[in-house]
Amino acid sequence: MSLLDTQLRADAGIEIPLICGAMYPCSNPELVAAVSDAGGIGIVQPISLTYVHRHEFREGLRLIRRLTAKPVGMNALIEASSQRYHQKMVEWVSIALEEGIRFFITSLGNPRWVCERVHAAGGKVYHDVTERKWALKGRDSGVDGLIGVNRRAGGHAGPLSAEQLLAEVADLGLPVVCAGGIGTAADFVGALRLGYAGVQMGTRFIATVECRASAAYKQAILDADEADIVWSERITGVPVAVINTAYIQRMGLKAGPLARRLLRGRRTKHWMRSFYALKSIWQLKRASLDETGEKDYWQAGKSVAGITSIEPAGEIVRRFAAAAG
Ligand SMILES: Cc1cc2nc3c(=O)[nH]c(=O)nc-3n(C[C@H](O)[C@H](O)[C@H](O)COP(=O)(O)O)c2cc1C
Repeated sequence: MSLLDTQLRADAGIEIPLICGAMYPCSNPELVAAVSDAGGIGIVQPISLTYVHRHEFREGLRLIRRLTAKPVGMNALIEASSQRYHQKMVEWVSIALEEGIRFFITSLGNPRWVCERVHAAGGKVYHDVTERKWALKGRDSGVDGLIGVNRRAGGHAGPLSAEQLLAEVADLGLPVVCAGGIGTAADFVGALRLGYAGVQMGTRFIATVECRASAAYKQAILDADEADIVWSERITGVPVAVINTAYIQRMGLKAGPLARRLLRGRRTKHWMRSFYALKSIWQLKRASLDETGEKDYWQAGKSVAGITSIEPAGEIVRRFAAAAG
């Protein structure tokens, strides 16, 4: 049996068990479509699609559909603290289902409502987890698979290594996808050999022809080494993996004392998180598209070490698949 023949492949209806993970602000329609068209699956990030790349949601999905006839997925970030945001996400999931999307990745919160809707339409839901307790919550809510986000990941990384995380959730009877630290074909093959049902990559796909991130951001990924990745609390209030640029060094990595107190307070923490969410949405959009590189807030994970050239996204998918045989 081929290493590529996994449950993720069957669940997502794809040829190569490789996901281009949702990235705010780096998921643009052309990148999502290119990964899907090559036989993996690109994941739509709704806020990135609408707010950063300026497509009305349904039109954005149709644009992707014109670029590829193959399956694409959608990320539903479940944030219960804002009713308005929740309503918007419910609407986005409904539109995605109407437009033929059948593979969803949920992050944070309780994915039960997404599972109910998606299963009724014959689709599948995989849930992002960093530890066993979140995996149990996902399983109890009915998810079909897990995305294990490890400590090498870009974005919000988890506390565990890829090996530790798989060992923690292997007995739950769900396929587990490896997210974090995959930058080379050898990393991809290694994750499949460990027993993962596929990989989800973010950082590797920023350094592609199709990604709309600035040339300065892509170059910084090529130049960076593992030791250049640090975790900053200053973007969203919880640690996010970023490249340690002069700007990040000037800002410092910790949230300020007032922000920390507000983040801890029972009554103020939700308000503070919303504040950070709005601030980060704006800051990250500006930083990812800004060609001057002055305010360089560049999210990336430890996989930067193995990324040495800007390639078409489809080439990466095909090269990785060939290495897995
Ligand atoms: C720039 C960037 C933005 C991200 N934004 C999101 C997001 O909006 N939602 C989400 O679920 N994951 C997000 N992630 C996580 C990715 O989907 C993926 O799990 C992660 O990048 C895997 O680690 P890697 O970067 O080492 O490949 C982001 C990652 C990066 C690098």
